Amino acid sequence: MAREIVKPLWTLFSAIFLIYLVNGAAQPQVPCYFIFGDSLSDNGNNNPLLTLAKANFPPYGIDFPRGPTGRFSNGRNLVDAVAELLGLDNYIPPFATARGMELLKGVNYASGSAGIRNETGRQTGQIISMDMQLQNHQSIVKQIASFWGNNDSSAEEYLGKCIYTVGMGTNDYILNYFVSLSSTSLQYTPDQYARVLVEQYSQQLRTLYNFGARKIVLFGLGPLGSIPYEVAACGTKGSSCVSYINNAVQIFNWRLISLVQELNSNLRNAKFIYIDYYGIGSSYALSQGSLISNVSCCEVKGGACIAFQIPCRNRTQYIFWDGIHPTEATNVVIAARAYKAKFLTDAFPYDINRLAQPS
Ligand SMILES: *[C@@H]1O[C@H](CO)[C@@H](O)[C@H](O)[C@H]1NC(C)=O
Ligand SMILES: *[C@@H]1O[C@H](CO)[C@@H](O)[C@H](O)[C@H]1NC(C)=O
Ligand SMILES: *[C@@H]1O[C@H](CO)[C@@H](O)[C@H](O)[C@H]1NC(C)=O
Ligand SMILES: *[C@@H]1O[C@H](CO)[C@@H](O)[C@H](O)[C@H]1NC(C)=O
Repeated sequence: MAREIVKPLWTLFSAIFLIYLVNGAAQPQVPCYFIFGDSLSDNGNNNPLLTLAKANFPPYGIDFPRGPTGRFSNGRNLVDAVAELLGLDNYIPPFATARGMELLKGVNYASGSAGIRNETGRQTGQIISMDMQLQNHQSIVKQIASFWGNNDSSAEEYLGKCIYTVGMGTNDYILNYFVSLSSTSLQYTPDQYARVLVEQYSQQLRTLYNFGARKIVLFGLGPLGSIPYEVAACGTKGSSCVSYINNAVQIFNWRLISLVQELNSNLRNAKFIYIDYYGIGSSYALSQGSLISNVSCCEVKGGACIAFQIPCRNRTQYIFWDGIHPTEATNVVIAARAYKAKFLTDAFPYDINRLAQPS
């Protein structure tokens, strides 16, 4: 009798164990993931800095298991969602705290308020510009090379298998060019500004390539004129102001697509892809007509959530968490389409899933 019970039980346990083995042992698609960017990607690098650009207090993180961490959202941000889709079992640690062997899985260098240009976002205090993020990466690459006894070719082979995402430029517009009477807006037309920005970005991306990066995802800019922060800033100037901003941002995006083509043809073994953040964000907001896109979920001052205020109850109903940053629900949708394109235009020349395939 006992035997008759034990046998099916044993079979059941073995089956569960097998499922565990298959799933538990599932390898991530890539061994490592490095992140460069601004507040759309920052996961705590600004916490120790003297800056106003912080998100390590409630209600930020209200839906994140560890609470407020410095992520500029209610829950996961864009790169957290990308890391999950790549099958990585942990979120990538911020440069501010990453140490030891965990560096091998990747590092997040992103800093809220930062930009392509060094002066961008300085009005908020200390921030880590793209040039400084690259310097930080250089120090990490040296440490990683030391794990191979400074055998650079082995370290390079490893670094070439990683995914790199770079999302920069938003603050070069909203905290620089579109700040009234900014010196860049007095100096450049939107067309000229996009050209100088993308030229500087191009140099930075070549530097990243020279540090061994080969699989590089570039997030384009979103419809910045339509974020609650800019809509409020436009005020009575209304929709012409909003579309002026959106047009300027799209010039940058078009130039970025050309840059992707250029880098792919000029840099050996380089695989750059462009994610149409603008198109994905806009089509998502349009297709989900019931979602609220003109108001942020939390109560804001200067675009950021006011500390300790109670936010909207149902976060999945909102596109924007604060005046600038998407809710977790939006981040998850954008990451999903960046990873597996829904429309041909979502990713150019192909999506992250394909970029992550062994080459
Ligand atoms: C960037 O700006 C900071 C602060 O203004 C300055 O200390 C630093 O030297 C600048 N870096 C570059 C590369 O221009
Ligand atoms: C580095 O490692 C590779 C692959 O393991 C090996 O072929 C090469 O000889 C090493 N180079 C040095 C300088 O040790
Ligand atoms: C947001 O949109 C809704 C619905 O279109 C409208 O009723 C509301 O007045 C808008 N709120 C603001 C602050 O623009
Ligand atoms: C929250 O909003 C979403 C999207 O509109 C809706 O599907 C869901 O039922 C809402 N949840 C609650 C608890 O109201």
